[in-house]
Amino acid sequence: METVQHIITIDELEQRITRMVKQMENRSPHASDSSGRYDDMPVSWWTSGFYPGLLWLMHDVTGNAFFKNQAEGWSRKIEEAFQEHPIILHHDVGFQFLLTAVMEYEQTGSEDGLRIGLKAANYLAGRFNPIGGFIKAWNGDDKKGWAIIDCMMNISLLYWASRVTNDPSYGQIASAHANTTLQWGVRDDGSTSHILSFNSHTGEFIESIGGQGYGPDSAWSRGNAWALYGFANACRHTGKRAYLHAAKRIAHFFLAALPEDNVPYWDFRCGGEEEEPRDSSAAAIAASGLLEIEAQVPQREKRMYRRAAEKILQSLSTHYLASDESEAILTKATGNAPQGRDINVSLIYGDYFFAEAIAKRNGWQRRIF
Ligand code: GLY
Repeated sequence: METVQHIITIDELEQRITRMVKQMENRSPHASDSSGRYDDMPVSWWTSGFYPGLLWLMHDVTGNAFFKNQAEGWSRKIEEAFQEHPIILHHDVGFQFLLTAVMEYEQTGSEDGLRIGLKAANYLAGRFNPIGGFIKAWNGDDKKGWAIIDCMMNISLLYWASRVTNDPSYGQIASAHANTTLQWGVRDDGSTSHILSFNSHTGEFIESIGGQGYGPDSAWSRGNAWALYGFANACRHTGKRAYLHAAKRIAHFFLAALPEDNVPYWDFRCGGEEEEPRDSSAAAIAASGLLEIEAQVPQREKRMYRRAAEKILQSLSTHYLASDESEAILTKATGNAPQGRDINVSLIYGDYFFAEAIAKRNGWQRRIF
């Protein structure tokens, strides 16, 4: 018989996030040190939306104005990154502004939230390469033809912009990017590549690049999680079942490749297994994505995805929670193993997606991605 383990409740989550807020002051956290203290990154850094996103999420779930008071102001603070010349923001404006400006607009109707959200969407749309049908990921002359799997999450900003402006062109760019990613980035077995390199003039596909994964043919677990969740969202936004089928295929690979405790190694094909670091952030993202798949499949399939998500959330709640002294929620995440950065630490996006999955499991209905 399966032992029923505890999954963290909304009350427990609220206590942890309240503690985090009291410790955080004005920092924009990304990764923790070994004692569980978060760093402070510039607001232009790709992770700047996750901490305010946690605050908006908790406000939405609990109705507690404390979280809203803490969250307000972050959209305008991150908007300041548009003043830098040259602009160093990149495709991750999706993560940054969905969780701040869009969250703010959707919860409060704020005109500033709408304005800043659309500004970010226009910037993201401007990164589209029409001949290749992809959104350019990063900046730099050597990266003009690079699209990356993570961007499947950022395109939700474009689907949102189409909804609020009633202009389909944003969503058309998002779907063109999803189609290209599906063609070149999702393998037959459901594993995914991190970086896709195209000729930026002709649009021709050149090669896959390992990026944050072990190698070009490996399976970076967080990349798999971004893709699983991102394709499920693309189906919700467009009704195109091919995206849901892709999300399911990626989910089946992800679930089949998980070790005993349902939290992946940083790459499913990194070889060493037992000695390799885990990535609890990939587990949290996948859990939230699996609940998104559950919402879109027929009744008779729902249980399969719900159970898979709950097994992951149980394991995270049992073995991966940060100590009471830590500022974070989860431990044992891995940021960038090939570069030796942020290994076995807490990562703010792991915390966000864990909280988001717990919120969904407890009936939270709003969708930001
Ligand atoms: N979006 C970058 C990462 O997942 O590390």
